[in-house]
Amino acid sequence: MKALVQQWHKALAARQAQHTYRSLKQYDTGIDFQSNDYLGLNRDPDFRQLLLKEVKEHPDCLSGSTGSRLISGNSAIAETTESFIAAEHGVEAALFFPSGYKANLSLFSCTLGRADTIIMDELSHRSVHDGCQLSRAKKWKFRHNDLNHLEVLLNKATGNVVVAIESLYSVDGNFAPLRETIKLCRQYNAGLIVDEAHAIGVFGKGIVHQCGLQNEVLATVVTYGKAMGLEGSAILGSRLLKDYLVNYAAPFIYSTAPSALHLLRIKCAYRYLAENPQLPVLLSRNIAYFRSFGIHKYAENGSPVQLVQFKDQAELLKAHQELKDSGIITYALFAPTVSQGKERLRICIHSFNTKEDINALCKIIKKYAYVT
Ligand SMILES: Cc1ncc(COP(=O)(O)O)c(C=O)c1O
Repeated sequence: MKALVQQWHKALAARQAQHTYRSLKQYDTGIDFQSNDYLGLNRDPDFRQLLLKEVKEHPDCLSGSTGSRLISGNSAIAETTESFIAAEHGVEAALFFPSGYKANLSLFSCTLGRADTIIMDELSHRSVHDGCQLSRAKKWKFRHNDLNHLEVLLNKATGNVVVAIESLYSVDGNFAPLRETIKLCRQYNAGLIVDEAHAIGVFGKGIVHQCGLQNEVLATVVTYGKAMGLEGSAILGSRLLKDYLVNYAAPFIYSTAPSALHLLRIKCAYRYLAENPQLPVLLSRNIAYFRSFGIHKYAENGSPVQLVQFKDQAELLKAHQELKDSGIITYALFAPTVSQGKERLRICIHSFNTKEDINALCKIIKKYAYVT
């Protein structure tokens, strides 16, 4: 065991030396340009009241689920919530998961066999990579949003082929060419899986739904931990896909079911967003206002994730620190999360940020050498 403990020490020391050591800290309070709470539901007193009312009306929801969905953990609430989610998104079926990570792990680990091929965008979320690691299929990456490269790989792929993209990428704050990717997948008879973690709520019920493309994709993954202000996720697709996952997705089968409270909260979030269409409008105004300062890099208009790149890491660190000292909370991204030389400041814009907040943010950033 001594050798193993030494190995851990060495690994952590390496992280410290590379300035990539992670530690748990209480999150900073201040003006929030960091969280994924894009529409402010997490801090919204009216939304909280709605949740409280729901809990009072359904006190049983405070109990645990007692087991996996396939043993004792299934409930009428689980079934009705999944039917509700499926109807909201205009798909045949939805399968609920406690997190987006587990949903992607489930989907990518079990849906393809040894003879098949998964081709994912290189900026796909870690959960997709990890799901693919558990799959026996061949796993290939295509250059971010590069359809020519995707086509080269589609030409070489064997067996059943699935392509994985995100509708909105949080690393670069840009959108996938969704329609063109669908067209290419159709041409090569490949299935498309779209992760909508950062799009749901910001763009209605996601971009796939907004564009009416539900029948053009194999599956969509939506998560509830960002604009919906909660946590959890759902895989949306056909009844057959749901039945298949219930039978073969290990993270679903061998794990305790989410509580009724979790499911009720998700239903409330859909209702609340439907009743508050002003929230994404306020968000998109704030995004446009931030972009009017002309300090952004990479990210596209409409994306709640905006990025600022600095001349070098030292400038980034100085800007990040001054913002923090002024009570403005942002997130600095270093390698290996982003590639070397592309270290940047990630700024998450919210519906609740004020013009004054954005003015203060940009005033500080402008003092440092940024690259547009
Ligand atoms: C694109 C994408 N997919 C999946 C996930 C995982 O979702 P969750 O946080 O619900 O596990 C994230 C979370 O950051 C994400 O950004």
